[in-house]
Amino acid sequence: MPVRVLGIESSCDETSLAIVEDGRQILSNVVSSQIGLHERFGGVVPEIASRGHIEAIGPLLVEALDRADCRLQDLDAIATTFAPGLQGALLVGLMTAKGLAWGLDVPLVGVHHLAAHIWANRMAHHDLPLPFLCLLVSGGHTEVVRVDGPEHFRSLARTRDDAVGEAYDKTARLLGLGYPGGPAIDRLAAEGNPNAFAFPRASMSEGLDMSFSGLKTAVRRLAERHVEAGMPIPVADVAASFQRAIVDVLAHRMEKLAEQEGLEVLAVAGGVAANRELRARLATVAEKRGWTFVAPPMELCTDNAAMIAGLGTELLRAGRVATPDLAARSRYSLDALAPT
Ligand code: KG4
Ligand code: ZN
Repeated sequence: MPVRVLGIESSCDETSLAIVEDGRQILSNVVSSQIGLHERFGGVVPEIASRGHIEAIGPLLVEALDRADCRLQDLDAIATTFAPGLQGALLVGLMTAKGLAWGLDVPLVGVHHLAAHIWANRMAHHDLPLPFLCLLVSGGHTEVVRVDGPEHFRSLARTRDDAVGEAYDKTARLLGLGYPGGPAIDRLAAEGNPNAFAFPRASMSEGLDMSFSGLKTAVRRLAERHVEAGMPIPVADVAASFQRAIVDVLAHRMEKLAEQEGLEVLAVAGGVAANRELRARLATVAEKRGWTFVAPPMELCTDNAAMIAGLGTELLRAGRVATPDLAARSRYSLDALAPT
């Protein structure tokens, strides 16, 4: 009998529900973005996000079931994001999941949002060998992670300040490109000259950590200089040069860490994994070294519930069923997931 798992995701500004069969086949994956609610604030407002999830989650459940041609009684388990994220936003999905699991008398599985982003690579590429090295780049996180299994992650390097997605969003706001900034800069960068401006490639002097706040400041200074001189900001060239600096740093780190760990399989995950230049560069690095590079399809990069159901199924198989006291946790490191 196939196993059907309902995934629920509400950790930030996307409400998503998905039904996945046997951890791989996506029967439905509906995503409702709150971008319209937060746009005028230039970032996610936690209280507004919680309310948005509450309003969206009921109709989305009906839609996810309809699209999958599935009834509530056909579900074998409920998987929900429990960490990390906005506390109030997480609670909406978690409480819905608890109610459904209790009402249907099926197991509840708690899924770590970042682990699910990473595991989306395994969902999309079933034969992806373990261990692999994954670059996790989202709005709130930037780390290079060694992946040894669905609960075994070791963070090898991280940003000391801004996450890459955050740097994209802040820079886009500065350039008047709106929120979220990543897709807008990605599009514009394709039209600009990536060598127009030599923005800093920040590498921390000791260790392998990264830093992106200096880059953001460099863009701000450049924009200010243009405004002071009464000149228009060459937005496409700035976007292309900014993106090139980010991709250079990330690709360099991945190559160095893969070498250090003796890993020959590279992957990328999180919202910024949708970035075309980043994907292309990592593919080039892998090709040059005779390594393998994989990336999830676009719809599994940004926040979605299919990845929650996918990893949830894997955890269910391993017997990791949550107890009713499963709590929402705004912070929770990937390294802390390993069972003791
Ligand atoms: O993983 P995600 O959907 O949400 C978090 O958990 O943070 O990531 C959202 C981030 C945003 O900062 C957005 O600007 C960025 O991913 N992003 C991109 C692209 N698409 C989304 N950044 C660069 N290029 C893109 N194409
Ligand atoms: Zn995410």
